[in-house]
Amino acid sequence: MATDEEEVKQLAKAIKSAQSIVFFGGAGVSTASGIPDFRSSNGIYQKETKQRVPAEEILSHHFFLAHPKAFFEFERDNLLFPAAKPNAMHLFLAALERLKKVTVVTQNIDDLHQKAGSKNVVELHGSLYRMYCTECGTTYDRSELSYDADGIPRCPKCGGIVRADVVLYEEMLDPDTIKRAISAISTADLLIVGGTSLVVYPANSFINYFRGKTLAIINKSRVAEEQRAQIVIHQPIEEVAKELGKQLNMEF
Ligand code: OAD
Repeated sequence: MATDEEEVKQLAKAIKSAQSIVFFGGAGVSTASGIPDFRSSNGIYQKETKQRVPAEEILSHHFFLAHPKAFFEFERDNLLFPAAKPNAMHLFLAALERLKKVTVVTQNIDDLHQKAGSKNVVELHGSLYRMYCTECGTTYDRSELSYDADGIPRCPKCGGIVRADVVLYEEMLDPDTIKRAISAISTADLLIVGGTSLVVYPANSFINYFRGKTLAIINKSRVAEEQRAQIVIHQPIEEVAKELGKQLNMEF
């Protein structure tokens, strides 16, 4: 069994020789930026909520419709980290995109890949910072919002509830976004999967379209798909990014 150190060297080699790279990531990519993930012991789904409803239910379409006040309170307390800064992994991927064909396919909704400078980002679950009115469809940036007395963002034009363009439970992923993700994954020769438990469908199924040479998984805890990966690294992803940067002589 190769050590993590050897596996990082192998990954650096694979990155060097790859023509087209996809990074498929999740919440573990942003924990080093101070944003909790969902399923780790200190993740969002492990804590009791102020609303006394499981967090996974709060983040559902029916709960949003029935209890907008509680929904936005939960969002504000648990999901919004507007001051969070990209960490070494975000910066590494942005730097790599300046050298090679790289697509970031992310389940995250925190905009940190774009803040780091990545251009080619597929946001499977949308973005917390892109908003739209549920009545008239007008789009807004989160910074432009105004709130009613219950803390619910309201549309200045029609008074409708303005929500983030994110995919809640019971909602569908955008078909064009799915197409972009599958197209990038199916034509990549290196797929790096990182910081995701790979348990959420359909996002987790997209990696099955990979036909390339090397599948690498970087995750603190074990994930089922490791059996078919050529490279597996159980280290904090931001540390792996720093080491890859050194080995590839990249500054970020
Ligand atoms: P999870 O919380 O399920 O998984 C995050 C994984 O990252 C865990 O396996 C951790 O061990 C690992 N991890 C945490 N910090 C890490 C670090 N610094 N380095 C390496 N690994 C680390 O998050 P996701 O897989 O992203 O959906 O969850 C998928 C979806 O479930 C989310 O997009 C969200 C949620 O419901 C929506 O919001 C629609």
